[in-house]
Amino acid sequence: MSIDDQTFDAQPSTNGRPLAPGRVRIRTEPLPGVIGAPAATESATESHVHVAPESVFEADGVGIFYGKKQALIDVSMRVRRGQVTALIGPSGCGKTTFLRSLNRMNDSVSGFRIEGQIRYHGHDIYGTGVDTVEVRRRIGMVFQKPNPFPKSIFDNIAWAPRNLGMRSGLKERVEKALRGAALWDEVKDRLKDSAMGLSGGQQQRLCIARAIAIEPDVLLLDEPASALDPIATGAIEDLIHSLKGRFTIVIVTHNMQQAARVADRTAFFSLETRGEKPIGTLIEFDETEKIFGAPRDPRTRDYVTGRFG
Ligand SMILES: Nc1ncnc2c1ncn2[C@@H]1O[C@H](COP(=O)(O)OP(=O)(O)OP(=O)(O)O)[C@@H](O)[C@H]1O
Ligand SMILES: [Mg+2]
Repeated sequence: MSIDDQTFDAQPSTNGRPLAPGRVRIRTEPLPGVIGAPAATESATESHVHVAPESVFEADGVGIFYGKKQALIDVSMRVRRGQVTALIGPSGCGKTTFLRSLNRMNDSVSGFRIEGQIRYHGHDIYGTGVDTVEVRRRIGMVFQKPNPFPKSIFDNIAWAPRNLGMRSGLKERVEKALRGAALWDEVKDRLKDSAMGLSGGQQQRLCIARAIAIEPDVLLLDEPASALDPIATGAIEDLIHSLKGRFTIVIVTHNMQQAARVADRTAFFSLETRGEKPIGTLIEFDETEKIFGAPRDPRTRDYVTGRFG
């Protein structure tokens, strides 16, 4: 795990300097439709008004390299607003790589290179002039291993809002985030205690509370329950259900029952041999019921029925 993994969502400022509110922008114009705007409509003047699901991300022909090694090739998919999208597939097929490319978390990895395009609400997030701090403010991330700061529960949640200048109503903001992460009742009487004293499942919900405290648009979750017992896993899944709609969620999971339980749409990635080497790619992306019930691609079928490899 890189340093970034440990510290990313603790880094809303550059060079340790707090960001003044309003300084952060993706390019110079505000993003339309990011928070609270209605879904786009298609052909609204026609009698058969059809509401098109709004895409938060559009990946087009994405290839990702680490030095000379190509980790992903030819990934094109749309992530719909307000939905839960699961990324599944065998180890090493590039799920984490793809997830981290959605908020430019891979930028600091030496040798990282991306081709193709990832648009976020229509903006090329790898375009020139994009403010990566703003990208990560809008697109929060929670990692496999809970990474609370060695601070109090309150200060964990208040850290990012303070650094972003969101100081008014801080107590209410912390409470709202903890309630949103279904942790409030368990910690409301011990907010000054160290977060390190929480159980693993509580720590992971704390990390989700920390991510939602600055009201992002998207939550990226990389195997958020893989280190947890079934009860804590159930709590995280319930939480994902309750956050759905308010946030767009992309979740990597190895647990296919979990994908089936939480995701509206599921993307199956796998390794394909191109030339001599296996490279990760997107095999099939569809409604979760289709992926698990009637996949089109035999490789998806083999994977979801356990016949893979
Ligand atoms: N920082 C890195 N430097 C070099 N290669 C990397 C780096 N991170 C990932 N890779 C390689 O890219 C490929 C995809 O890795 P990735 O972690 O995205 O897979 P994954 O599908 O998330 O696997 P898992 O299910 O085991 O988490 C692998 O071959 C991996 O070794
Ligand atoms: Mg991974």
